[in-house]
Amino acid sequence: MNVLLLGSGGREHAMAWSISKSPKLDKLFIAPGNPGTAQVGENVDLSLSEHQSILEFIETNDVALTVVGPEKPLVEGLTDFLEEKGHKVFGPSKTAAQLEGSKKFANNFMEENNIPTAEYVSFQKEEFDEALSYVKQREEYPVVLKADGLAGGKGVFICETEEEVEKRLVQLKEDAKLSDAAETLVIEEFMEGEEASVFVISDGNTAKIIHNAQDHKRIGEGDTGLNTGGMGAYSPAPVMTKDLMMRVEKEIVLPTISAMLLDGNPYKGILYCGLMITDQGPKVVEYNCRFGDPECQAILPSLKTDLLELLDAASSGELEDIDIEIDDQYRCCVVMASGGYPKAYEKGKEITGIEDVSDDVLVFHAGTALKDSKLVTEGGRVLNVVGSGASLQDAIKSTYAQIKKISFEDAYYRSDIGVKGLAHLED
Ligand code: AMP
Ligand code: GLY
Repeated sequence: MNVLLLGSGGREHAMAWSISKSPKLDKLFIAPGNPGTAQVGENVDLSLSEHQSILEFIETNDVALTVVGPEKPLVEGLTDFLEEKGHKVFGPSKTAAQLEGSKKFANNFMEENNIPTAEYVSFQKEEFDEALSYVKQREEYPVVLKADGLAGGKGVFICETEEEVEKRLVQLKEDAKLSDAAETLVIEEFMEGEEASVFVISDGNTAKIIHNAQDHKRIGEGDTGLNTGGMGAYSPAPVMTKDLMMRVEKEIVLPTISAMLLDGNPYKGILYCGLMITDQGPKVVEYNCRFGDPECQAILPSLKTDLLELLDAASSGELEDIDIEIDDQYRCCVVMASGGYPKAYEKGKEITGIEDVSDDVLVFHAGTALKDSKLVTEGGRVLNVVGSGASLQDAIKSTYAQIKKISFEDAYYRSDIGVKGLAHLED
């Protein structure tokens, strides 16, 4: 079959690499893709917000399955648009994608269905004074302030004092970049614990856990500094013991999928459960309606099941017939970023050394471009280097031994990806 994969990050390179191994695949198109995806398929110049052009491409090129990588086209209703025209899509509908697209929707949903999460209240933007007086009578800090809508990771503030909440409320109200996302605000209880993510695939009826991972969101060593899209991930995460995985399945995954179905809003696609492992057990920090980036790059190399077969079965309501098989290796994914990221950074630096990386370590492209037939940096997160090993320690060692071979001016990466996982193994 012909497949169209939408997106252009490291996640999409990993997905394209995995799909390209399938015997079911005839032709893989990636839109818009990156120089990495061009090695395993054909990049096509389509904008993800132009739904009509995507439809025309699908019809002209006999595409049997469209796979949506990032959240934005899902929240904008691309799945609904293409399905109405009779095409098969992997990714949730607009209303189901609200689990990620609206924090208030997700919080209400979890409250109604007794799915463990933080306590919360929500306010409309016009209720600025009410939000402030609510915070003033609160005694416990920190509190978490969130813009309701998609804010590219910039809409969440953990506030230590009342003054900080006030400052952030003003920022959410006035910052032009956040103002759409912040039409509604959510104020949440701060949950204490370690974070981990569980990735689930669903066809609307049946849900199956693929694997778990742990992301490293902060730019600096030891989880310090600004938040980023993710500086590295490892999988599996030892914090997610067998018992905890069973609890997550029973208390979070299955109730989520069945309640969505009962609400007439079936969830088809990847459900990313961002969790806090608290003293009382696992609680949901956030749902996302797609694979995590860079968690996907650490997880897909472990998947023994044919990814295309899996995505196709989920899109066709036939997930029940498929077993998900994962190998027994650990994977460590380290993100190489442009110096300065997540603030301003320069682009166009030549990247060298990828060809020297040993064959057992994967290099996925994220923010790269080809300029005068040279590979150059084009984004904040540039490359994802993924090593594997029988132990987490081996996976980490192998990744860091190879990443050294790649260079570009002002390259930056964290040297402690996976270290938190090792601490659990020593317990
Ligand atoms: P979100 O976009 O909702 O995932 O939030 C981004 C990050 O903020 C999460 O990965 C957590 O590190 C942190 N966070 C969000 N909500 C909470 C909460 N209620 N308690 C503690 N940390 C939180
Ligand atoms: N790595 C976090 C995310 O994909 O949202």
